[in-house]
Amino acid sequence: MNTSSLPRIAVLATGGTIAGSAGDASKTAGYKAGVVGVDKLLDAVPALGSVARIHAEQIAGIDSKDMSAALWTTLARRIDALLAQDDIDGVVVTHGTDTLEETAYLLHLTVKGAKPVVLTAAMRPSTALSADGPLNLLNAVTVAASKDAAGKGVLVAFNNQIHSARDVTKTNTYAVDAFRSPESGVLGFVQDGRVEFQRVAVRPHTGASEFAVADQWPMVEIVASYADASRVMVDALVAAGARGIVVAGTGNGSMHATLTQALAEAVKRGVAVVRASRVGSGHVMRNGAASDDALGTVAGTLNPYKARVLLMLALAAGANDLQRIFDTY
Ligand code: SIN
Repeated sequence: MNTSSLPRIAVLATGGTIAGSAGDASKTAGYKAGVVGVDKLLDAVPALGSVARIHAEQIAGIDSKDMSAALWTTLARRIDALLAQDDIDGVVVTHGTDTLEETAYLLHLTVKGAKPVVLTAAMRPSTALSADGPLNLLNAVTVAASKDAAGKGVLVAFNNQIHSARDVTKTNTYAVDAFRSPESGVLGFVQDGRVEFQRVAVRPHTGASEFAVADQWPMVEIVASYADASRVMVDALVAAGARGIVVAGTGNGSMHATLTQALAEAVKRGVAVVRASRVGSGHVMRNGAASDDALGTVAGTLNPYKARVLLMLALAAGANDLQRIFDTY
């Protein structure tokens, strides 16, 4: 086979269970994430050679629970530099599943290039019986090599499905079909070399996004509302200098009365407060379960972790029209 005409895809490894290793092939929970190098990951998938020419880089080797905003900045800038090269047709990022949705959404709003960018991961370590990483990696490269994937924002290829970075979330602690896009559903499918899109994400992303990664990130934290919630966390965050707080509210973003009082005071002290929901699907209506107009809060449709990403980007950009931003992105 003449491979010189195949697309050239950059695979950027950051760690995760896809690069995890256990001493025993029967172990799918007790293992060390992020320890297998990118070359070994690629060697495990000989079929890649008939899909793309691979340029590999080891960006990090972490368990994604330890992802940092500084690493987001490094990753986004490296992706844009690669996408600007004529000899690169797309980028795949291997990542841990635990914070994949946050990294994917951050990249969706900050990477500027229109060539495909696809994240993938695995629920089982590379040493496990029936490891899911090799097929996920093959499928991610297949999507990144597809011209149809260009201009669709950052994508997540997982378990034969293609998700938009905006909508995808991890919904299971161990199953290989852990990722879902609640409410909106998958964008398409990838199987046996075939890439099929069935819908597109309509909110602005990549080149149409007004955001960029930062060298200094504002402090934005998440607090939850629950039965008997106190104001201790909110008061501590305000005292620590937090610029933003996302509330993982009950139901349609409702908040315990004690928390509501503390957050209203936080807003008066200049802290941006966004109401999200801990429920896992559905949106939060402005002036629905709480009066955003009276409290000075913002309501949105993102889950708390993605809402935190957007709030960080908005505050880093110096934005003060936060409700517009949450309605737009
Ligand atoms: C991680 O997020 O790095 C560990 C868990 C996983 O990848 O499934």
